[in-house]
Amino acid sequence: MANHSRKVAIVTGASGGIGAAVAERLAKDGFTVVVNYAGSTGPAEALVAKIEAAGGRAVTAQADISSVEAVRRMFDSAETAFGGVDVLVNNAGIMNLATIADSDDALFDRQIAVNLKGTFNTLREAARRLRDGGRIVNLSSSVVGLLQPTYGVYAATKAAVEAMTSILAKELRGRNITVNAVAPGPTATKLFLDGKPQEVIDRLAKLAPLERLGQPEDIASAVALLVGPDGGWINGQTLRVNGGII
Ligand SMILES: NC(=O)c1ccc[n+]([C@@H]2O[C@H](COP(=O)([O-])OP(=O)(O)OC[C@H]3O[C@@H](n4cnc5c(N)ncnc54)[C@H](OP(=O)(O)O)[C@@H]3O)[C@@H](O)[C@H]2O)c1
Repeated sequence: MANHSRKVAIVTGASGGIGAAVAERLAKDGFTVVVNYAGSTGPAEALVAKIEAAGGRAVTAQADISSVEAVRRMFDSAETAFGGVDVLVNNAGIMNLATIADSDDALFDRQIAVNLKGTFNTLREAARRLRDGGRIVNLSSSVVGLLQPTYGVYAATKAAVEAMTSILAKELRGRNITVNAVAPGPTATKLFLDGKPQEVIDRLAKLAPLERLGQPEDIASAVALLVGPDGGWINGQTLRVNGGII
């Protein structure tokens, strides 16, 4: 495992799913991890306790990423506690599926607020404040390539995140900061599993030539690569981590 013992990583949406796996992996790799969440205090605190029990260093940070002020406060607290921030993993996201015809304004507005404005809020703060040599990883989704019915609004938010990824990579020229996106395929988390009948889950699990769902740890491994020394020459890219589904 790499050792990043003096580096500080904020992982948004780390109370469960992919974010929790990323937080745990980065802590194992030696990062001090800020475990961000919106409402799930218990799971976030349990994750911090688990990381500390394993010898890692982590703190919780409640902040709804759709709030400019909350995101600013989270960066302020991390800087006060640890002297600066080196890594941002923009993982927090929500998914509400409906055809475009059936999507109401609330479905559209909420996904824009969290997935797009929320990611913008943290990217802006990171662009201004990340220490030189830092790393940013945004979570997109392979649905940007798959383009299935009912994913219209969700995929649109993630396509926008991919666009900002490559543009911010260029804007940060001269600071040795990389900005990349990881785009998982179907991954066994609440976001993917909730509300889907077992036969749909089984069918989607077979779509990739590797014939299984991704696990949060599969995605965490890709994030760990991008924020670690071996990922240093990868910049402005979207890496689809999906067992070959597209
Ligand atoms: N699972 C998949 O198949 C899949 C595929 C492609 C891409 N992705 C992307 O991967 C990322 C993680 O997804 P997941 O499957 O791990 O989802 P998940 O299991 O539903 O977890 C989502 C996390 O985001 C947090 N969150 C939600 N809204 C937030 C907000 N406004 N502010 C701060 N935190 C917030 C949740 O915390 P609280 O409970 O505290 O709200 C939770 O910790 C998302 O960006 C998702 O779009 C997932």
